[in-house]
Amino acid sequence: MREDFLIGCFRAAAAPGYNGFFSRPRAVTVKPIPLFRVFMSPREQLLPALERVLYSGQISEGAEVESFEREFGEFIGNPQVLSFYSGTAALHAALILAGVKRGDEVISTAMTAEPTNLAILHAGATPVWADVERRNGNIDPDSVAERITSATRAIVAVHYGGIPVAIARLREVAERRGIPVIEDAAHALGARYGNVPLGTHSEYVMFSFQAIKHLTRSTAACSPCAGRRMSRAGRRVRWFGMDRKALRTEVDVREVGYKYHMNNVNAVIGSVQLGHIAPVLARHVANGKYFDRALGGIPGSSFSHGTRRRNLPIGSTPCLPKIAMRSRGAWTSTA
Ligand SMILES: Cc1ncc(COP(=O)(O)O)c(C=O)c1O
Repeated sequence: MREDFLIGCFRAAAAPGYNGFFSRPRAVTVKPIPLFRVFMSPREQLLPALERVLYSGQISEGAEVESFEREFGEFIGNPQVLSFYSGTAALHAALILAGVKRGDEVISTAMTAEPTNLAILHAGATPVWADVERRNGNIDPDSVAERITSATRAIVAVHYGGIPVAIARLREVAERRGIPVIEDAAHALGARYGNVPLGTHSEYVMFSFQAIKHLTRSTAACSPCAGRRMSRAGRRVRWFGMDRKALRTEVDVREVGYKYHMNNVNAVIGSVQLGHIAPVLARHVANGKYFDRALGGIPGSSFSHGTRRRNLPIGSTPCLPKIAMRSRGAWTSTA
């Protein structure tokens, strides 16, 4: 086997935190690990549904979107679900709905994918990073409390790698100061906190259905944004600032809106995919446990769950389990 192929395998299989282990490739037989082999529903279910929508003459936002929102709401136990064309759009909309404006501060975390903080910049605000908890890399409510100022308008908390943030402690801090919480649950579909599915604990909760997430729809991902305060205002934000149901001659645009809505094509894929969600999530959890066992003995590393997996509130990692690379003196994660 050629060495450059081996290096390619290692690069594909290993995120930056692993470089220390794989810096010297040896000529051994390596099977690349398919990190992102996403689930897609069987053709015989998906294609007829898709064909029906594609040739229906209604491919933009319509009945399929409403059905998907209803079905997803049933899944997370919250009927207030709004869909957006991506998780990033949903986060931006949630920040607007939370009242975040230019010049405000939003407390967030650096332990996330770029879109979490970009959405804050899209809203014209400044991300202020709180520290994370050593045990799992999630935002630390005590650190959040220390960073709140008179300019703080919202707190964005990421359930990193699918492991829920300490929501009760975070909400205590937020409620004491009257600040809304936006949960970035892009990694955490199906996770529970206090035995309640994520999607109901905070003012806004974003799930992502981007191409490599648990429930993917297509490359153009769609994200419901659930929570306590999704409302007609949310519908206007996602549709040019207008009430889409108003007569065209009576439209009154009073606020800046966006083209952030989901379409029927993505919605129907989502509905069919949702029918398979239980085994897909079970598989993610089983894969996580497999990596726990397989990587558990690597010297100098430790799992960053912070609690034994069997006690976890069904957090499921989308790819590799998180590993704290203590030997490198940094708290990094491969998830
Ligand atoms: C933590 C986190 N937040 C936000 C996003 C953005 O979601 P989307 O790709 O659906 O815009 C992602 C996507 O990768 C993510 O991992």
